[in-house]
Amino acid sequence: LFAGETEFVKGVVAMSGLPPADRLEVCFAGRSNVGKSTLINALTGRKGLARASNTPGRTQEINYFTAADSHYLVDLPGYGYANAPLPVVEQWQKLLKQYLSGRQTLRRAFVLVDARHGVKKVDEEIMSLLDSAAVTFQCVLTKADKVKAADRERVLDQTRTALSRHPAAFPEIVLTSSEKGDGIPTLRAIIATLE
Ligand code: GTP
Ligand code: MG
Repeated sequence: LFAGETEFVKGVVAMSGLPPADRLEVCFAGRSNVGKSTLINALTGRKGLARASNTPGRTQEINYFTAADSHYLVDLPGYGYANAPLPVVEQWQKLLKQYLSGRQTLRRAFVLVDARHGVKKVDEEIMSLLDSAAVTFQCVLTKADKVKAADRERVLDQTRTALSRHPAAFPEIVLTSSEKGDGIPTLRAIIATLE
C-alpha cells in the first residue's frame, strides 16, 4: 500500500468539495501541532508531502492524498487551537465535525494524542462525536521520542482508561515517533488490512 506513489489530491474547505466516495479512507485527527501531517509524511516516506510546521494551525483544509489508488489518507485541520480568529476556528471545527460524522467511506479515524500530554478534554469530545457517528477510531500516541521510557507506561495507562469510556474506540494503542520511525510499520500494516 505504501510502496507505490502517494499523491496529493486536493484540499477541501466544504463537504461539497470532498472527492467521490469511491474508495476507503482513513483520517488523522488530533489537536493542533500533535503531528498529523508529519505522521502522514512518515507513513508515505515522503517528507514534504503533507505540510508540517512548528506553527499550530498549519493545516487549514481537509487534505486528501491517495495511496496505491486504493485508499485515501486524509489530513485534518487540528482542533483545540485558539490563536486563529474565532470565526475561522469555528469554520474548521464545523467542517471537521461534519466530515467525521458524515463520510460513508471513512473506515477508521486515527486520533493522535501527544505522548507527553495524554488524552485531553478536546480529544474526548472528538471521541464522543466518533462514538455517536459509529466511526471506529484508534488512538495513536505521537512524539514517543520525547517521552522517557519510564513515563510511557503511565501515558499508556491514562490513554487506556480514557478509551475504555468510548464504545467506538479500537483497543490497540499505537505508540509512534515520526522522527525515529517507531510504530510506523505497525500503523502501515493496520491501514493496509482495513477493508
Ligand atoms: P496542525 O496542522 O497545525 O494541526 O498540526 P499537525 O498535527 O499537522 O502537526 P505537524 O505535523 O505540523 O507537526 C507539528 C510539529 O511537531 C512539527 O514541528 C513537527 O516536526 C513536530 N513533530 C511531529 N511529529 C514528531 C515526532 O514524532 N517527534 C518529534 N520530536 N517531533 C515531531
Ligand atoms: Mg497539519
